[in-house]
Amino acid sequence: MNDILQDIEAKLTGLASAPQRQQTGVVREIGDGVVRIEGLSGIMSGEMLDFGDGVAGLAMNLDEADVGALVLGSFQSVREGREVRATGRLLSVPVGKAMLGRVVDVLGRPLDGKGPVATEEFSPIERAAPGIMSRQPVSEPVQTGIMAVDALIPIGRGQRELIIGDRSTGKTTVCLDAILHQAELNRAAETRGDKEHRPLYSVYVAVGQKQSSVARVVNTLEEHGAMPYTVVVVAGASDSATSQYLAPFTGTAIGEWFRDHGQDALVVYDDLSKHAVAYRQVSLLLKRPSGREAYPGDVFYLHSRLLERSARVTKEAGGGSLTALPVIETQAGDISAYIPTNVISITDGQLFLESDLFYQGVRPAISVGLSVSRVGSSAQIKAMKQVAGKIKLELAQYRELAAFSQFGSDLDAKTQAQLERGRRIVELFKQPQHEAVPVAMQVVLLWAVQNGGFDGVPPAKTTEFRGRLATWLAQNQAGLLEKIRQEKVLSEALLAEVKKAVESFKQLQG
Ligand SMILES: Nc1ncnc2c1ncn2[C@@H]1O[C@H](COP(=O)(O)OP(=O)(O)O)[C@@H](O)[C@H]1O
Ligand SMILES: [Mg+2]
Repeated sequence: MNDILQDIEAKLTGLASAPQRQQTGVVREIGDGVVRIEGLSGIMSGEMLDFGDGVAGLAMNLDEADVGALVLGSFQSVREGREVRATGRLLSVPVGKAMLGRVVDVLGRPLDGKGPVATEEFSPIERAAPGIMSRQPVSEPVQTGIMAVDALIPIGRGQRELIIGDRSTGKTTVCLDAILHQAELNRAAETRGDKEHRPLYSVYVAVGQKQSSVARVVNTLEEHGAMPYTVVVVAGASDSATSQYLAPFTGTAIGEWFRDHGQDALVVYDDLSKHAVAYRQVSLLLKRPSGREAYPGDVFYLHSRLLERSARVTKEAGGGSLTALPVIETQAGDISAYIPTNVISITDGQLFLESDLFYQGVRPAISVGLSVSRVGSSAQIKAMKQVAGKIKLELAQYRELAAFSQFGSDLDAKTQAQLERGRRIVELFKQPQHEAVPVAMQVVLLWAVQNGGFDGVPPAKTTEFRGRLATWLAQNQAGLLEKIRQEKVLSEALLAEVKKAVESFKQLQG
């Protein structure tokens, strides 16, 4: 009996003692950026490997007999029999303020020809998310400048809001416009000498996109002067599946630096559908078993551990925030497919963009019925809550009424008036790309549409009328707009001023 117990104890001790760390190994098998290495032992998952000649790798599968690893960058030079060294470090990328204005690859190396990035700080691309005790609820808005978003489906700093829709429905544009508006807000605050303003820095991660699409995004950012506040991480369609799989983690590490230094950042993953495909490819090469739709069983965990890192953290934990806008591309509007449902369940809401709306000219093509923001409204400024509260309901009623009234021609006057108002609201939310509307202006426009300011304007002329009203307000009521921005709430006195301003404009129209 004693013998048996001793035997078991001996076995357990054997299991518990860590295997001897063996730093060097030899490449045994190569395939498409994935290698199997013999001889390494006691190394970490996610540890950086050195293949020599500046080629780096990442340990993934720690099996008993060998280690499955990804080669980063050009793997053509890696041959069987080559020696590999474990570095004892997790894969890390440069981080810090110096990353702003730069276009980098998945290892943080510049792609923009502007010389080396001036930072000494590195951060591992995979890190634990902030714990529950170091998180706090969102309370400050991300002003996107997109009226439909800021008024109806608002996003708070630290929130994760999914942008979902078919191809060419304006997903990238929504994210880009949100980034562009931050630059405008930052510049305006600099001009005012505003020390209260908390800039929101952006990280745009391009995954699996064509070179030309990425170039277009970077050009737009440059043209609008947004690059000084933005970092672009690129793993394009022609880059390896490994790079595409890692890029969102790189972007997150860069964004986290701001979160952990008491600042605010926004990270866009464009898009996670391609990311999931890249991960599927990497997993198949690593001979991991696959599950539903041939995706590896842990693809949910892949996206959840990525998005969990976006949060608003407490003062003790740095006091900053990281907001995430993951993008998912659907096929024929199917949001119930595997990857979309996964990411929907991980995020705090979604902006659903619809092809039908897009082609009807309702742009941004945000489906108000299917879009939600579970936490954002608590971050809306009070003035916006005052004017936007009823609009969502009114839009829902309008949609119902519009569907119903298709069948009947003789509608009573009340119904007709309601329909007309609904149509005006839909028109009001149409907005050209890259033309942000500051929040104070949004408040006045939304107040006006609900209080007769647009009465007598044919619904089809709403957009044009809004444009003229906005221009007039900017030129003649700058003081009022500034007061709304500062006070953040419509007091009785301010409301009276808004009313007077809108009436004056109406009078000018004759
Ligand atoms: N609000 C808008 N007004 C006008 N055109 C838009 C608007 N939003 C997007 N577009 C245009 O629609 C096309 C598709 O947009 P994009 O953002 O690239 O879609 P996605 O990322 O969903 O594929 C682009 O040419 C873009 O310029
Ligand atoms: Mg896109």
